[in-house]
Amino acid sequence: TYVIGAACVDVLDKACIEECPVDCIFVGDRMTYIQPDECTDCGACEPVCPVEAISYEDDLPPGDEQFAVENARFFTEILPGRTTPLGQPGGATSIGIVGVDTEFVRNYQP
Ligand code: F3S
Ligand code: F3S
Repeated sequence: TYVIGAACVDVLDKACIEECPVDCIFVGDRMTYIQPDECTDCGACEPVCPVEAISYEDDLPPGDEQFAVENARFFTEILPGRTTPLGQPGGATSIGIVGVDTEFVRNYQP
């Protein structure tokens, strides 16, 4: 999977969302998250991010390892205000803006 990393936090440009052919980039509060089981590794999102926040999981810049964990956790944990995990919704558009982050991202200090 591809992973959205620290550079996205509080930038949230969202150019990546338009590019994803399988609609697997979800909008939190401070950043976006890629659903790792829905990402087909097409790589279309990577070059359009103006702050180069997106990387392939095997090629993460130093410091972004935890963001690979958070991208997955966003879908497996029960986020604030929800009663079930997001899981594999099969597309972000139907969900809309999730509007919350994982605890790590919520407290992240760049
Ligand atoms: Fe974030 Fe870059 Fe997308 S800033 S929302 S990963 S275009
Ligand atoms: Fe979509 Fe980027 Fe994966 S465009 S399919 S999230 S590599």
